[in-house]
Amino acid sequence: MQFKEPLFFDIHKENKDANVQELSQGLLCPQATLSPKYFYDEMGSVLFDAITLLPEYYPTRTELEIFTQQAHDIHAQFPKHATWIDLGSGNCEKAVNLFSRSMPATYVAVDISVDYLSNHLKDLQAKYSEVDVVGVGMDFSNSLQFPEKLQQQLTQKPLLALYLGSSLGNFNPTEALYFLERVAVLCKKGKPGSGLIIGIDLVKDTNTLERAYADDLGVTAAFNLNVLRRANQLLGSDFDVRDWQHIARFNVQESRIEMHLQAKRNLTVQWHGQQRPFKQGETIHTENSYKWSIENFTAQLRKSGFKSVQHWTDPKSHYALFWAS
Ligand code: AVI
Repeated sequence: MQFKEPLFFDIHKENKDANVQELSQGLLCPQATLSPKYFYDEMGSVLFDAITLLPEYYPTRTELEIFTQQAHDIHAQFPKHATWIDLGSGNCEKAVNLFSRSMPATYVAVDISVDYLSNHLKDLQAKYSEVDVVGVGMDFSNSLQFPEKLQQQLTQKPLLALYLGSSLGNFNPTEALYFLERVAVLCKKGKPGSGLIIGIDLVKDTNTLERAYADDLGVTAAFNLNVLRRANQLLGSDFDVRDWQHIARFNVQESRIEMHLQAKRNLTVQWHGQQRPFKQGETIHTENSYKWSIENFTAQLRKSGFKSVQHWTDPKSHYALFWAS
């Protein structure tokens, strides 16, 4: 028996010089930073998958619960025989969970973590031979410009854009607006019925939020610390992970969880003739995860060009799924 091979476009150009410059600049800022995009090497992607299984990390589980409990209403919105574009697909599990109720004609998985993605797509294509599986390795945070060949195909069917797992929370509100505007433009290119399904983590009590980002097993700590090993690989820095500890706190004013790495002692990090001294207690800011209210996020979707917006939540209103078209 012959199996179809998934089509794969890799347009993610790792620009080593740009990475070095960005990492170096971030470390030299008064509040040192390392971009969360460096979390996701192979180890980081596996650690993130482990985070989603933790009892403290409710977003992934709650999103699935809403999809299950309100399946009828949610799937009623999805266009039939559509092209699904799964933005930040990771291991594709979140979208594939939906296949039992709504089967796409074409499934386009888009992720920056190219090797991780292509490994999963082969199995997926073998399992769902009736679906055309396409992989795109790209960084979609600044552009949704797909390869020419794919771009044409996208106009031929209704589009279902998926942005699941509350990943939009890792953009600040201005970046989120730009991103949603680009998705709204993309949806307009598809046939009628096109729309976006997006998972959003909601504001809630500080304890629940902080525990979700500082679990008892220390998986999130490992995920955060792994960025130092990545910096060592890309920048040639000499971070010793044993000198740093993971911190997660909710910044109420900014409505975001902030993850930091805090120096356990006075130390100096060196790379290529540059150096950055850190005092004990000083931090490197590694990630923001914004939490929205239903009202603010509905307004954000409308502002970005979607005409119709509706949402579903879990009984505790911890999380929401929005449909925008
Ligand atoms: C990928 N993103 C939605 C996760 C979040 O919740 O912001 C990343 C994460 N960071 C720590 N735990 C999970």
